[in-house]
Amino acid sequence: MPAVFLLQLLFLAIGGALGNSRPFRAFVVTDTTLTHLAVHRVTGEVFVGAVNRVFKLAPNLTELRVHVTGPVEDNASCYPPPSMRVCVHRLAPVDNVNKLLLIDYAAHRLVACGSTWQGICQFLRLDDLFKLGEPHHRKEHYLSGAQEPDSMAGVIVEQGQGPSKLFVGTAVDGKSEYFPTLSSRKLISDEDSADMFSLDEFVSSQIKIPSDTLSLYPAFDIYYIYGFVSASFVYFLTLQLDTQQTLLDTAGEKFFTSKIVRMCAGDSEFYSYVEFPIGCSWRGVEYRLVQSAHLAKPGLLLAQALGVPADEDVLFTVFSQGQKNRVSPPRQTVLCLFTLSNINAHIRRRIQSCYRGEGTLALPWLLNKELPCINTPMQINGNFCGLVLNQPLGGLHVIEGLPLLADSTDGMASVAAYTYHQHSVVFIGTRSGSLKKVGSGSLNIWGWSWSLGYGTRRVVGTHG
Ligand SMILES: *[C@@H]1O[C@H](CO)[C@@H](O)[C@H](O)[C@H]1NC(C)=O
Ligand SMILES: *[C@@H]1O[C@H](CO)[C@@H](O)[C@H](O)[C@H]1NC(C)=O
Repeated sequence: MPAVFLLQLLFLAIGGALGNSRPFRAFVVTDTTLTHLAVHRVTGEVFVGAVNRVFKLAPNLTELRVHVTGPVEDNASCYPPPSMRVCVHRLAPVDNVNKLLLIDYAAHRLVACGSTWQGICQFLRLDDLFKLGEPHHRKEHYLSGAQEPDSMAGVIVEQGQGPSKLFVGTAVDGKSEYFPTLSSRKLISDEDSADMFSLDEFVSSQIKIPSDTLSLYPAFDIYYIYGFVSASFVYFLTLQLDTQQTLLDTAGEKFFTSKIVRMCAGDSEFYSYVEFPIGCSWRGVEYRLVQSAHLAKPGLLLAQALGVPADEDVLFTVFSQGQKNRVSPPRQTVLCLFTLSNINAHIRRRIQSCYRGEGTLALPWLLNKELPCINTPMQINGNFCGLVLNQPLGGLHVIEGLPLLADSTDGMASVAAYTYHQHSVVFIGTRSGSLKKVGSGSLNIWGWSWSLGYGTRRVVGTHG
């Protein structure tokens, strides 16, 4: 389709969006803080994780159910948790912060993991949030006691015959001896099974932050912001210390970087582990602190504008400006778009270059030394899942997204998106804790032409 024609089409669309004066529906709570959301891919129902609560909302954001998860009698120093062994530390009611909220479609349940009792999970029935189980008696059940809501992400991979797998990444709060930062685990249909959350392969299905890294950078941790599956791969978006930048800074300031991690979903040895720095720039300014992301299909209009197939996976991502202040990131935020084909092309070229013997594995936080890439002539296509050599592998440059929308008033904090007919429908959560459903016509406008230099002003007005 010629660009000029498409532009006219989109002018019509934005006219419609601006002419529609109905206010956006919002779900607002006053007695808790929202932390995560998951949209059911069939019903459009919205599940929301919060401090001490999990909510179920109708597609129109009406509250249908609420399930109480806390406060819980606990002390973060009790390992194992007080339910398992009498603990010497003083117990008190502690807020249970939802850190992971996943829809397990195969078992028709929600997996909701919290911060209390060293990070145990509840299984809740999708229909009514009835608690089906809460495994908490084995060390595999403790995912991490880190308290930050945005530190854990997970992905469920369904397998034809066997049990589903849960890939989970988490900050470990210095406790790398207790918790792997990344692992793949068995997700059993029986909530009471002793095997629940056991490692996929006894030792190999995990990555631990090395103690050398922790002694060099005591504050080092990896915050997993989002996880998703695309084709035969599992991906995570993380926020972590940029060790190189931090080393170079004479004033001792900490710098952070976002990474995209990719593994083959079937790789229980983790030989396919690759990570790349990821970010976005807008008007010449770098945005490198990932806040939230959501995988979606572009919808026909956006796909045509991007020149990709409509069934291509795209990643909507919110970044905050700069590389500092991970804990209170700047309100200056951008919504950016990545196509998975572009991300995969970067990763494939990196693997191919390493197999030609060029350079090193370039993963200082995990390897603590420079290991050379070993020249190994072989055909490497897009589905390559790694060998015992030339892994794990770090990227050498930042993968850049396409900026769609900037906001520096309230600050965008979370994003979710899905397609409805030809359109993308996006939920944006603001820092003030409200949830908004964004019309699709306007999204297709941001989707490209405005980001290519036509200005975003009018569109910014419609989302507020
Ligand atoms: C929202 O959806 C629920 C459930 O589908 C329905 O009962 C309710 O009437 C709807 N509310 C509005 C305001 O449309
Ligand atoms: C946990 O125990 C320590 C003492 O062992 C105490 O100082 C701390 O206040 C306790 N935490 C809570 C939340 O009660």
